[in-house]
Amino acid sequence: MRLAIDQQRLAAEIESLAIFSDAEAPAVTRVVFTPTERMARAWVKDRCVECGLIMRDDAVGNTFARWVGSDPEAAAIGTGSHIDAILNAGKYDGVVGVLGGLEAIRSLQRAGFRPKRSIELLIFASEEPTRFGIGCLGSRLLSGTLAADAARKLTDSNGATLADVLRSAGLAGSLESAKLPGGYYKAFVELHIEQGPILDRERKPLGIVERIAAPASLRLTIEGSGGHAGGVLMPDRRDALCAAAELILATEHLARTSGAIDTVATVGMCDIFPGAVNSVPSRVRLSVDIRDTDLQRRDGVMESLQRACEAVTAKRQVSVRSELLNADAPADSASSVIAALSEGCEKHGFQFLPMTSRAYHDSLFMSRIAPMAMLFIPCRNGYSHRPDEYASPEDIARGTLVLAEALATLAG
Ligand code: GLV
Ligand code: MN
Ligand code: MN
Repeated sequence: MRLAIDQQRLAAEIESLAIFSDAEAPAVTRVVFTPTERMARAWVKDRCVECGLIMRDDAVGNTFARWVGSDPEAAAIGTGSHIDAILNAGKYDGVVGVLGGLEAIRSLQRAGFRPKRSIELLIFASEEPTRFGIGCLGSRLLSGTLAADAARKLTDSNGATLADVLRSAGLAGSLESAKLPGGYYKAFVELHIEQGPILDRERKPLGIVERIAAPASLRLTIEGSGGHAGGVLMPDRRDALCAAAELILATEHLARTSGAIDTVATVGMCDIFPGAVNSVPSRVRLSVDIRDTDLQRRDGVMESLQRACEAVTAKRQVSVRSELLNADAPADSASSVIAALSEGCEKHGFQFLPMTSRAYHDSLFMSRIAPMAMLFIPCRNGYSHRPDEYASPEDIARGTLVLAEALATLAG
């Protein structure tokens, strides 16, 4: 079988999807369950219907597009990614795995391939934590990693619960029903941009992910005492933002001094209350994201951060409340899926690097229910989660070709 990827069409579809954005181009902002994200999803669904895929949405808004195999009862082969995008993001994160997955299926159809196992394209719901504070909601629920009860209670910044938001989006089913039955997938494989600099720097066209790092996130709420910026004298201050500043620096220091380059930590959000130029901050909320390839080391950083919170509490007479939003374990890729990807590379003479994914992905949770691996393509300078994120049409097409080969091998 000779597969041909329609590189131009795929590149044009990526451009078309980028138009669905709440930010000015080239930035893309597409937060889950907003009208923009719903329209983008409908547009992708139309493309899936055009090539004969059978569509369904589950109760949390994951979309499944199935190319039914000659043995429809056999466990399916899953592929796909997400189309939601964080604020001020780029065009490629997630999208390459969705539209590339679709083009991989179309290339197999064009070549006359008839899969034995069904091949199913997934467009996950809410991979990004932007709206509900926790990433990969869709894959957490379908893999049973997050309980439906806990999910229902998640709220967005307007205080709307996930249950309310799903209802408004017309998704009425019970969240319990999103959990897939055991053995639903025989394998899962996700194509994604690397979101780091290694492939670009080493001029390697492809990476096969062997392990996904362990992410954790916390919310720290620091309460001090507010008041008039002129009236409250310095010895009397219990400024919540000054305490938060110490914790931000402590977070950075702990990651820098863990002894491993693989430890990373980020404070990406800081809400200051009341947020006035002439008012001492009385309350600050920080988001903390800590990741590592080594679970123990990641947890060690989290413990040290708790001690830093205690020290700042004592030093500055503030209170610090720490809420754990998620602390996930790393995932190993499955040798069967790695083999299907590496055979695809070898068939076409493409070099690849074995890699660790430092970003998390829905594949982290898919690995809990199916053998999983990921295929990375380079992105310029490793930039991601910013408007100048870029992957070349050639690199995207190459990744899509290897994905298609792997899907064919896995589907039989
Ligand atoms: C996913 O976008 C991540 O934050 O790794
Ligand atoms: Mn992302
Ligand atoms: Mn992504």
